[in-house]
Formats: sequence, C-alpha cells, structure tokens
Amino acid sequence: MSRAPLRVAVLGAGTVGREVVRGLLEHPERLCATDGAPLVLTGIACRNLARARADGIPADLLTDAPAHLVAAPDTDVVVELMGGDEPARTLIAAALGAGKPVVTANKHVVAHHGPDLEAVARRAGVAFRFEAAVAGGIPILGPLASDLAANSVRRVRGIVNGTSNYILSAMTHDGRSYAAILADAQALGYAETDPAGDVEGDDAVNKLVILARLAFGHWLGPGSIGRRPPSVRGWGRPGIVGVTGIELEAAAQLGLTIKLLATAIPSRGGIAAAVLPSAVPADGPFGQTDGVTNRIEIEAEPLGTVGLAGPGAGGAATSSAVLGDLMAVARGLTSTWAGLAPATDPAGSAADPLDDPRRWYAFVPAAGMASPLPAHAAQRNRAVITELGTGTAIRTQTLNLEEARAIVAPILPEGVDVTLYPIDD
Ligand code: HSE
Repeated sequence: MSRAPLRVAVLGAGTVGREVVRGLLEHPERLCATDGAPLVLTGIACRNLARARADGIPADLLTDAPAHLVAAPDTDVVVELMGGDEPARTLIAAALGAGKPVVTANKHVVAHHGPDLEAVARRAGVAFRFEAAVAGGIPILGPLASDLAANSVRRVRGIVNGTSNYILSAMTHDGRSYAAILADAQALGYAETDPAGDVEGDDAVNKLVILARLAFGHWLGPGSIGRRPPSVRGWGRPGIVGVTGIELEAAAQLGLTIKLLATAIPSRGGIAAAVLPSAVPADGPFGQTDGVTNRIEIEAEPLGTVGLAGPGAGGAATSSAVLGDLMAVARGLTSTWAGLAPATDPAGSAADPLDDPRRWYAFVPAAGMASPLPAHAAQRNRAVITELGTGTAIRTQTLNLEEARAIVAPILPEGVDVTLYPIDD
C-alpha cells in the first residue's frame, strides 16, 4: 500500500543544506524505504536567496521566512540546518511543539538546549533526530541508543572535530602554516562559520555532551567541560590553539602525536568529561586518524571496545546522516534516543578526568631554556627525559598533575611555561 508523501521543509542552504536539498531532489527513489513514506521537498528557507538560486536551488521552493515555513500546514517535517543558537532553537521548539518531527545537524542547539528540547519532544510525542550533530557522517548516536542499548558504557572517547584534526594532521605531515591550513579547512566546508569553536574545542564539547546523553543518560552543561590542557605553571590555551609544530615534531621522536580527544567516563556517581589536546601513540588507532576523519571508541560491558571511524565533517558526509534521519522519520521511527529512558540531571556538571593520575608528555624548547639543566635522578626515576636538538622532551610515569608539574618545573627557566599533555593510550 503506498503511503502519503512526507512534506519536508529545509531551513538553511549552507554547506550541509545544499547537499541535503540535492539528495532530496536528485535521488528521491533512494530515500524511500519499502516500509516508509516517500519524501517530497516543499520549501527551503535561507537568508541569501540570490546565492541559493545561483547554487541551482529551484526558485519556487525558496523563502526567506523560516518561521512561516515551519508553521505552514503543508510542512510535515522540519530539517534545521541553519546552525547557531537563535533563531534555530526557537524554530526547532516551535516545530516540535506543533507536533512536527525535526531533524537537525545543530550540535550547539542540541548540546545547549537538549534538556528542554527533549522535554518538548517527549511531551508532544514527536520525533527529534540529531544523528548528524556528532561526527558528521559516522553513525554513532543510533548505535548507542539501539544496537548497544544492552550495554553499560564504561568510556566514550573520540576525535570528534574534523577541522582541528585536519589542522593537526597537516601540521604534523606537511609543515604548512596554521593560517594556510585553516583556510583550506574552511574552503573544504569543514569549519564552522566562526572557526574559533573548532580550534578552541567548543564544537567538540557540544558533541561530547550529546554523546554523554546517549551513553550515560545525563545532559551535561557544556560550560562545565574542560577544554584547556594544564601547563606547568597553570593552564594552556583551549583546544589545539596552543599546540606547536616543535611539540608535534618532538612527540613524533617519542612515537607519539597530539590529537584533540573528547572523553567521558562515569566517575564517582557522576561523569568525568573533557576535551583536551592529548598525546597518543602515533601508530595507534587515534594516532593514525588523520585529516577530517573522526574516530569514536565506545568501551562497554559486555561488548568490550568498538571503534567507528569515517568522515567527520563536510556537506556530503553530513547529508548522509541528515537524510538517514529523514528516512527514519518517514518510517515512523521515534527520536534519536529511541527507547532510552528520559535524561536525568539536566545540565549537570562534569567532573574533571585529570583528577586521576596518568602519564604526561611535555616539551621544553631549547630557545626557551636559559641553559640546559641536567635532569636530577629523582626526575629520571619518574620520567623519561630525552634531549633533542630542538629542546627537551619529557614523558612521565603515571603521576597526578601536581607531581607531573614538579617533574618539569626545574627544567623551565623563569617566565617560560609549557603544556602538559595527558598521554592517552
Ligand atoms: N566544524 C565541524 C568539524 C563540522 O570540523 O568537525 C562537523 O560537525
């Protein structure tokens, strides 16, 4: 029996929006499951109508009035791809409140307003789907909520920002300037409109909040999740902003590389979570994750560890997740959290995973040293200290943060500070 088409309104015609529209217009047959309604695109709201027309979007579908499109009686489902906070949050809430399913790639809105939007969607009994908000094209939220639902999750860990991973990989492998690499990431459609959120870790924090909701049943407050690595004298710059080429070179000589890792672990009745530039084995699964590729590992009982890797940003890859969610709506499936219980502890605070002892990597550049100091025996017992042409690399045993600071501090001349990178095997 054929089902009535589901009429789709798309809000936003940027990097992802354009690809979603292309998929809906060019491959309608691919998007119709045997047990689902066909999808028909009925409207696209965007700010720059002339640019959308120049991009080949049919003029008769375009409007610059997203609220009208959401409220229109011939809109059955809303796809929000505008990004940012407002008006996206209000439009999503209005659609859900009116009983219209919503599909979004907006990690900021889901992470910052998740508790409210989950409550609205549950009250209205309507689907709210956001697979595309985490790790672009990698299916990770659906598996967490469904295929892995029989497990108790012990740790979620991942490279979840394509732009910063693209930058770190290019700094490691081809030595181009940071500015030139970032410009490439923007041209390839990986970076956010304001790329500060990519390189300073906020984007990865948003994704970690969403992963933690699915893995542990709590919405964490994004502001409670640390994204500054410690330094010897205090705290470093957020995300990857403070990572230098010579730190990467020295790490490589120790068999390590630096990645922006997002981690969430159940801890002392709460959840310890952070997004930190971390040293990982260069030949391990995270070390080998280069370019825009994301990788997420779920450690769970009884499963063990499963890793998922794939394209983490970009219009085409992200449109795969958006269109998959639309097909799920057309098949009558519910929200991304599927059969999981309602979240508890809205906007709870994350604990700091750095409270637990771990191994650390630091590099003291030769130019910053008044004179190379011989390492004391006590330091050598607790760390491997390697003199390189460019400076001194330190890799500690398992120590708490203050112990690690005490190992590196004697090598630092006054007024100089260096980052202490947690080593994550
Ligand atoms: N700016 C994001 C990234 C896009 O680089 O990962 C995908 O969420």
